This record gives sequence, structure tokens and C-alpha cells, in this order.
Amino acid sequence: MPFNELRIRHVVIRPAHILAPMAGITDTVFRRFIKRLGGCGLIMTEFVSSEGMLRHNPRSERYLYYTEEERPITAQVFGADPDHLAEAARLIEDLGFDLIDLNLGCPAKKVVKCGGSGLLRDLPLLKVIFEKIRAAVTIPFTIKIRIGWSDQEIVAVPLARMAEDCGVEAIAVHGRTRLQGYSGRARWDVIAEVKQSVRIPVIGNGDVMTPRDAAALWEQTRCDAVMIGRAAPSNPWIFRQMEQYFRGGTYGEPTEADRYRLIRDYYTLLVAEETPGALGKMKQFASWFTHGVRNGAELRRSVQSAVDCQQVIDRVDEFFGARLAWSASSCGRANAHAGR
Ligand SMILES: Cc1cc2nc3c(=O)[nH]c(=O)nc-3n(C[C@H](O)[C@H](O)[C@H](O)COP(=O)(O)O)c2cc1C
Repeated sequence: MPFNELRIRHVVIRPAHILAPMAGITDTVFRRFIKRLGGCGLIMTEFVSSEGMLRHNPRSERYLYYTEEERPITAQVFGADPDHLAEAARLIEDLGFDLIDLNLGCPAKKVVKCGGSGLLRDLPLLKVIFEKIRAAVTIPFTIKIRIGWSDQEIVAVPLARMAEDCGVEAIAVHGRTRLQGYSGRARWDVIAEVKQSVRIPVIGNGDVMTPRDAAALWEQTRCDAVMIGRAAPSNPWIFRQMEQYFRGGTYGEPTEADRYRLIRDYYTLLVAEETPGALGKMKQFASWFTHGVRNGAELRRSVQSAVDCQQVIDRVDEFFGARLAWSASSCGRANAHAGR
């Protein structure tokens, strides 16, 4: 069965389904929420700046907050100064994270200047960074890359080999270049090439939206784990669905009542945890989560114009409350007809 289990040294990832790090999305509340739905073997923090960490920037410290129920958990760091990255890695280990990951994929202009996918163009500097981080920590050290800067500069294979030689213990490959941004298709053929070139585990990432996509990724690349990004906020059940699909060839679809419960639970947790920017997160989540929901545009509009968190919750209650009452009563009528 694909993606049954992955071990990165002593860390057991079971099933080998990983929630991709996503800045602004995969905070502690979202991660716990995904974890509770089941089927996700590893979660990661949003990326954290090594420079911010060393300055004790409150935002960086907030990004590194996690709870025990989130284990195993990876902290993802970005930066370009080898000594600062090593120092940040030490702090991450001291905070009790199970793994540390280095971001080599972020395409944002602001980040590229000081790390992220910018480092894909400087393999000699990357080698120094790998060696310094490796020497600084004892926890497993992983990296997450894009396949290169541009179609003319695909470096995934030499980079993966160098990483392996420097003691990196797993590599997640998002099959796009930096210049591609999120356009076009992820190149799973390059993920397959990386898989054939190294002995360390390779985690496939990019454009897996359904359990069938995950099966196709495995068929095409034989990668050791699958990482899911954008599909997770619109379908947080995808991890459990993959588990069901690989076990029995089918998977369940959530009902309207499941959707209602899920959005309600997520919002309640955001408020209870006094999450900074909770209102914005609610609106963002509503816009993803209601795609594919009947009359979802109506809910999106009404949530977007809400002025505070309670109003968002009230509008969600109104929307789903009315629909569920309607379907319960039409179901009642149908039963009454059937009984005649
Ligand atoms: C809103 C957003 C934020 C992201 N933030 C990060 C990040 O902090 N670190 C990282 O390595 N990748 C980040 N990514 C990239 C994802 O982890 C993932 O590689 C990418 O979305 C491709 O996977 P997908 O097709 O499953 O979405 C982000 C992607 C999105 C859409």
C-alpha cells in the first residue's frame, strides 16, 4: 500500500501523508484541526525567519508555538546566513521539535533575497548551510525544495545528492520552478528523477488534489510520502480520504452536517485561542472551504462583509442552520409520503 509509513530516523510518520507548510494557514489551530480529522502523519509550522528568531521577534515566536497533540511536528526555517541558520536550528531543537526543515522553495520576492528559492542558484552557499545546520542539531534535518529557479536551471538532482552527502535526512520536492510560481503543472517526472538519485526518503509535492492524484503520484514517482498543500483548506478530510482509498479503493464524502460542524469547530478554536488576525483567517478559510458547497457563493459574500468574529459565526450558523433544517424537513416529508 502506498504511503503506509515513513521513518525519518526515529520519527515515525504514519501514514506518510504530510500537511505542507503554508504561511498564513498552517498555524497551531489549523494543524490541530487537521490532526483531529485523522489520516495526517506529519505537520509542519509555517516558515519562520532565522533572523526574526534571533531577534526574538514576537511573530516568529508565535509561529513556533505548538501543542503536544501536534506531534510529530517539524519546524520550518528560512534564511541565508549559515551561522544564523545554525543558531536558529539549535533554538528549534531546544523548543522540542521532532524535526527541522529548511525552506528552499519560497518564491516571494522579499524572501528570495534572503533565502527560500533564491538559494537554488547558489549551491556552494547551500552546502555550507547544510553542513552548519547538520553540525548544530541532533534532530532529523530535512529540506523542502522547488526543482530549480527556471526551466533552464533545474537543479533538483544535484541538489538532492549534495544534501544527502551533507547528512540531510529527507527531501520534499515541489515539482515547480521558482519562475513558475503556481502556474502550469507540477513536474512529477523530476520528482521521479530525484527519487532514483538518492537513498534518503523523497516526499512528493504539487497538484495532489484528490486521493486518486496521490495514487498517480506514487505510480509515477514511487516517492516515499505525499505532501498536501492547497487541497487541505478546501478539503481538510483529504488525508483521511487517502487512507480509506489506499485501503479499500473508495472513500467517503463529507455531508453538509460534517461541513457545518467542521467550519464551526475551526472558528470556535480560532476564537478560544485568541488567534491574532482571527477574523481575516475566518474569511480566508470560508472562501476556500465553501467551494463545491451548494450556494457557497452566498455564504462567502455574507462572511466577507462581517465585521467581527461573532458575526461570522452567526452567518455560518444561519446559512447551514437553514439548509439543514430544510433538508431535515424535506426528508421528513419524504418519509411521510413513503409511509402513506
Ligand atoms: C498560501 C501558501 C503559503 C505557503 N507557504 C509556504 C511555506 O511557508 N513554506 C513552504 O515550504 N511552502 C509554502 N507554500 C508551498 C506549499 O507548501 C506547497 O509546496 C505548494 O502549495 C504546492 O503543493 P500543493 O499543490 O499541494 O498546494 C505555500 C503555499 C501556499 C499556497
